[in-house]
Amino acid sequence: MRRGWDRAPGVLCLALSWAALCRSWEPADAEAFGPQSALSDVEFAVAASYRGPGNNDTRGNRELPILLWWSAGLFPHFPGDTERVDCARSSCLVTRQRKVQLQRRTTAIIFYGTDFRAYEAPLPRLPHQTWALFHEESPMNNYVLSHTPAIRLFNYTATFRRESDYPLTLQWLPSLEYLLQPPAVSLQEKNRWRRAGLAPVLYMQSHCDVPSDRDRYVRELMKYIEVDSYGKCLNNRQLPERLENTETATGEDSEFMSFVSRYKFHLALENGICPDYMTEKLWRPLHLGCVPVYRGSPSASDWLPSPRSAVLVDDFPSPRALADFLRQLDADDAAYARFLEFKRPGGVANAPLLEALRAREWGVNDMTKPNYLNGFECFVCDRENERLAAQRGCPLPTPGYGQPEDIAQNDSWAQMWLQDYWQSLDQAEGLESLILHNESDPSLLWHHIHQLAVRRAGHH
Ligand SMILES: *[C@@H]1O[C@H](CO)[C@@H](O)[C@H](O)[C@H]1NC(C)=O
Ligand SMILES: *[C@@H]1O[C@H](CO)[C@@H](O)[C@H](O)[C@H]1NC(C)=O
Ligand SMILES: *[C@@H]1O[C@H](CO)[C@@H](O)[C@H](O)[C@H]1NC(C)=O
Ligand SMILES: *[C@@H]1O[C@H](CO)[C@@H](O)[C@H](O)[C@H]1NC(C)=O
Repeated sequence: MRRGWDRAPGVLCLALSWAALCRSWEPADAEAFGPQSALSDVEFAVAASYRGPGNNDTRGNRELPILLWWSAGLFPHFPGDTERVDCARSSCLVTRQRKVQLQRRTTAIIFYGTDFRAYEAPLPRLPHQTWALFHEESPMNNYVLSHTPAIRLFNYTATFRRESDYPLTLQWLPSLEYLLQPPAVSLQEKNRWRRAGLAPVLYMQSHCDVPSDRDRYVRELMKYIEVDSYGKCLNNRQLPERLENTETATGEDSEFMSFVSRYKFHLALENGICPDYMTEKLWRPLHLGCVPVYRGSPSASDWLPSPRSAVLVDDFPSPRALADFLRQLDADDAAYARFLEFKRPGGVANAPLLEALRAREWGVNDMTKPNYLNGFECFVCDRENERLAAQRGCPLPTPGYGQPEDIAQNDSWAQMWLQDYWQSLDQAEGLESLILHNESDPSLLWHHIHQLAVRRAGHH
């Protein structure tokens, strides 16, 4: 089993353990081995260096753990590819350059759920690396992530599920005030619109072939109650020309809002069904003072402003029974008005909802708060630094004076001690590998170190 390894210059260097010789390494190996060279000096220069309040991390950029955004398109920094982030408690280097994938300092890889592809996963998965998942979109965007074997691959998650590490459950609800806004159209006026020919129920959907199969339900419901449908799905009404282009927009357009708020009931049917997956389809009617007729998260009632603020489709045995109930409410102003009582002072009785809105650190359309992408990145950064601090024996030696990045390449202290520190790590990992492979000859250490190096270099 000693084929080849003794001819590899890198291994020779390790065996002798002295820095000067290591300079002659092949560039690919040197890069694979040398945590110092993960990113070039130019790239370090680009990374801004400042310290956030409450963050007393004094390390230079070269000593920070690296978080790699595997989904480069989501990298939440502009315009560079690499950035220093100073989070609540510690700092990290974040990058979208995949070439750092197999670097030791790359301690976490962050994935965007919608873009995650099992057949493009960064393998081999290094034992020291954690995976983080940011997945705020509908389950239909990537059903791989609806399965436990996939979800448990990730050490940190930010998803719509309340159980995730950095929950985005209320990502579509901007604030409590948003819910409490007085009804845009009074009940009297809604009744006038009803007499003028408007249906009691609004449906507006242009994405028809979805896993929740909502149109099949609505088609049946339409047999028992009038539904005005303006979108492409089950269309039976034309939008005014002025509004045609805003129909699929998220609907901040005020004319559009006035148009839809004349309806007593909004069919609010998510495109995919999963616990805690709730979108603007639920919150917007509540905001406008229309009653959502909701199907989506089976546990949506946990988040409603009051127990009676939405009609939950799944509470009814059939579309016909739901239609009966809606017609009853349509004819009974007092009963209808009770669905809007949560807008009165003190009307929001749901303590977990209030607490979740108060406690979340990110904002929705709020420039004074971090967005959840940067927030999650920092969550991972602080957790990774805690993890590394807990498991590391002793830190990398630092210069007695000045910053590590100011030390010359040929500085004798750096050549001796930084090399020694990292080469010792090679040996520790080599020993780990010996044990993992159940070897009985400790002199196979060099072979294992070499194999680890070749594996890293081979994946560049
Ligand atoms: C940073 O501050 C925290 C308290 O906020 C403290 O526990 C920690 O020891 C400090 N770290 C350093 C390196 O000063
Ligand atoms: C990260 O998750 C993987 C897969 O579940 C697990 O094997 C590994 O031990 C975890 N790493 C840490 C640091 O928790
Ligand atoms: C280190 O390199 C610099 C140029 O990069 C050179 O000026 C200096 O003399 C070198 N020092 C030693 C000790 O070789
Ligand atoms: C490891 O080696 C021991 C003794 O040589 C043997 O009993 C054991 O089955 C081996 N384990 C594995 C996983 O190969």
